[in-house]
Formats: sequence, structure tokens, C-alpha cells
Amino acid sequence: MTDLLTPVTERIDAEFDASVERLKELLRIPSISTDPAYRDRTKEAAEWCAGVLTDIGLDASVRSTTGHPMVVAHDPGPGPDAPHLLYYAHYDVQPPDPLELWEHDPFDPIIADSPHGGRIVARGACDDKGQMMTFLEAFRHWRAVHGTLPVRVTVLLEGEEESGSPSLEPFLEAHRSELAADVAVVTDTGMWNIDTPAITYMLRGLVYTDVTLHGPTHDLHSGMYGGAVVNPLNALARILGGLHDDAGVVQIPGFYDDVRELSADERERWRNLGFDEAAFLASAGLEVGMGEQGRSTLERTWCRPSCDVNGMWGGYTGEGAKTVIASEAHAKISCRLVADQDPQAISAGLVRFLEDRTPPGCRWTFEPHGCNSAIRVPTDSPFLEAARDGLRRTFGTNAELIGCGGSIPVVGSFQSLLGFDSLLVGFGLDDDRVHSPNEKFELRCYQMGIRAQAAMLESFASVKSPVGS
Ligand code: BES
Ligand code: ZN
Repeated sequence: MTDLLTPVTERIDAEFDASVERLKELLRIPSISTDPAYRDRTKEAAEWCAGVLTDIGLDASVRSTTGHPMVVAHDPGPGPDAPHLLYYAHYDVQPPDPLELWEHDPFDPIIADSPHGGRIVARGACDDKGQMMTFLEAFRHWRAVHGTLPVRVTVLLEGEEESGSPSLEPFLEAHRSELAADVAVVTDTGMWNIDTPAITYMLRGLVYTDVTLHGPTHDLHSGMYGGAVVNPLNALARILGGLHDDAGVVQIPGFYDDVRELSADERERWRNLGFDEAAFLASAGLEVGMGEQGRSTLERTWCRPSCDVNGMWGGYTGEGAKTVIASEAHAKISCRLVADQDPQAISAGLVRFLEDRTPPGCRWTFEPHGCNSAIRVPTDSPFLEAARDGLRRTFGTNAELIGCGGSIPVVGSFQSLLGFDSLLVGFGLDDDRVHSPNEKFELRCYQMGIRAQAAMLESFASVKSPVGS
């Protein structure tokens, strides 16, 4: 058999500096999807991606939606009988705040020292621009060497993943036939560690809502009224403090009703992974974990639901002191969900929990930010085997099958609307500081990621296309 991969890998390595420069270009565009002030810059990032795809030789276009645009591209590969893969990533990023904690401008990427031989630091370096570039660069080099990709490829790049994907489902519904594929390759997850690749087979779901507790009609002098009337901030802190009991158990009614215990097999497999708990905690600057008593950290993040306050504000938060009782108190609350939990029921349970505790004279308003269920993908598909083969050939070691505490809503939408599963293969590390200041992507993860994407392309080419989509 002709060795198609070696010349591609050689080119990937020889041209790696140019791959880094292209990633830096994309990182300079602040595509913050959640902030309307960055709408034009987000569109600029979409146009940059479409430009790169066109330059690589794909038929690419920017498609407008009611929110941020999608980028769609096609490569017919060697012909209509070849396996058909849909590659997904997102070009939007989280806001960089708090800005003062960044050592450099978050949108002026730098190469910094790292124990792994260098890293690129910028917002989106890992999540998800660096990851997205692993497959774009693999396509570039494969096509440069062989003229065409070895499989049929559709690319879908989203610009709203970090803000709840409001336009995604209508877009998928409207473009069902154009987006048909055998399987999706979603590049937005992590490796097990720097030497060991991973395939993620479960993701948690998410329910997210803003809550406001309204009290007095206007802000009051805390000397005149303090101690005599309700203070919404005091009350909100007390109520949210009751979301967990002392054993870390979430107190929302019905929260655990549909949660399944881990099977004995899975428990054993996870134990054999040899999770480095100390390193995980150290990546957060901590020495001790916390959560539901009697559960391991992997259980707590992969297969147990959680509830967190993501932000809390109200009253006076400026410099110095202002003696005031605010009329309103605000919080952002999220619940991470696991298999079989119903997002609507959890959302209703959260509202009930808060309403049951409404202080006299107060009322609540809620602004939900969407919700999605937890996901599992099959671990016995031929495409997953092919991905494992490509990863093994690149890293010289078997990929681990892992869970993920985060959410990637598109995976559920592909299942329910387009009828195919996803392969979740990514190259991030636990200490990449995604969503945090000084986010980074190891250059080694980037280079190995590009190589692995090329090797997986070759492995996918030998899978018999199941439906000929
Ligand atoms: N890339 C992350 C998901 C992720 C998190 C993968 C941690 C691996 C480890 C993704 O971009 C993300 O952050 N998703 C959001 C989705 C939400 C806004 C609906 C999340 O999980 O918070
Ligand atoms: Zn992401």
C-alpha cells in the first residue's frame, strides 16, 4: 500500500512555523460572541476562516443567521462513495475578563516558555481556535501533497458556541441535506495528558439562568433602613448558600431523581485511568477538592450533576464605601447535567427552590439562557475505531476513552436533527486555562494535533461508508 501519510507529516513539520503564524492571525481577531460590541469583529473572524478554507482549496462561504454567521465548506474528496465527515469547531471565544489578570493583551498572542517546549498564549488559543486550526492545517497539507482529501468533507464553523448556540438548530434544520454526513468530528475537547490522546464519549448538559430578587422600590440609606427592611443582597446570599447542604448535595427538588449510578465496568475503567488528582487540583492552584461526599473527582465532574453560582452582583461595587441597601440583587446560576436528567425539569426545580424561599415583600424575575441535555456517543463505531487507529499511529500509545464535565450543544443537535453521531477528539490539556485569564495551547499539542488529524483522515478513508450520505 502506498504510504500517503509520511509526506504529509513531513510537510506538517517543515511548515509548522507558518501554521503557528496563521493561528496567531486568527487569535488577533476578538470574536467575543456574547458581547454585542464585538459583532463586527466576530463576523471578521468568520470571513477569515472562509478565506483560509478557500485558500486551502475548499468551496467555502460565510452564511448569515439571525445571530453570528456560520462558515460552511465542502470538499468532494475522491468521489461519492468515500466516507463523508462533517468537521465542526467554533471560531468564537469567551470574553477575556478580568483583563487585569492577563500578563499580556489577550488578543495579541505571544509564544511563552513551557515545560513542553513553548506555548501560545491568547484568548481562544485552545478553546477553540487552536483546536480548529489542527484540522484546517491538516487539510491544507494533505491537499498540498495529494491534491484532494482522501474522504468527503463538510466543514461547519460556528460563531455562537460560547453564548449558547441560539442560531444553531434553525440553521441545521434549514440545511439538513447540505450538512448530511456519516459522522461529525468535533474538535473542542481535551487529551488525557500531554503524551496520551483521548476520545471523549460523554458530555454534561447545562441549564443556565439569570435571577433577580426585587425588594424595596429603590435603593435606600442603610442607616435609615438597615435592620428594619429586607436587603435583597443579604437574602439572595442566604438563599444561594442553601443550594448545597454540608455534604455537598444539591437541594433543588428532584435534582437527583433521574441520575443513574455508574456501572461497575465503567467505575473499574475509570479507576484504571490512573487519574492524577493532585495535578488536576494544582492546575487550579488548589490542594484539596470538594463536592458530593464519597465521590471521586472524576465522578464529580463526569457523571454527577452540579450547581454553581457564576456571578453575583448588586448595590454599590465601586471604589470606597457607599452605605446603601440595594433594591435588587442579581445572580447567574448554572447546573451541569448528566445522562437522563431532563433540562426542563431541572430548570423548573431551580425556580421552585428559589420561589419557595422568597422573602416577604420580595419577588423574583428569571432570564433563562437556554438549556441542553447531557450526551453520550457510541464507543463501538467503525469511525471511532479509525480515529483510535490514527491517534495510536501519531502518539504511539492508545487513546483513552474519557468523559467531560463541559458541554458542546452541537453534539446533541447533530444526533437529534441530522441523525448522526459525533467523534469528540481534541488536543487541549486540563491546565490550558480555558475561559480564564492567560489561556494557552501547547505548541506540542498543536503540532501533534495537526499530525493526528492527518493520520485520522487516512484512517477514516478506509472505513466503509455506512449510508453513502
Ligand atoms: N470547549 C468547551 C467544552 C469543554 C470544556 C471541553 C472543558 C473540554 C473541557 C466549550 O467551548 C464550552 O466551553 N462550552 C460551554 C457551552 C455552554 C456555553 C452552552 C460550556 O461548557 O460552558
Ligand atoms: Zn470550546
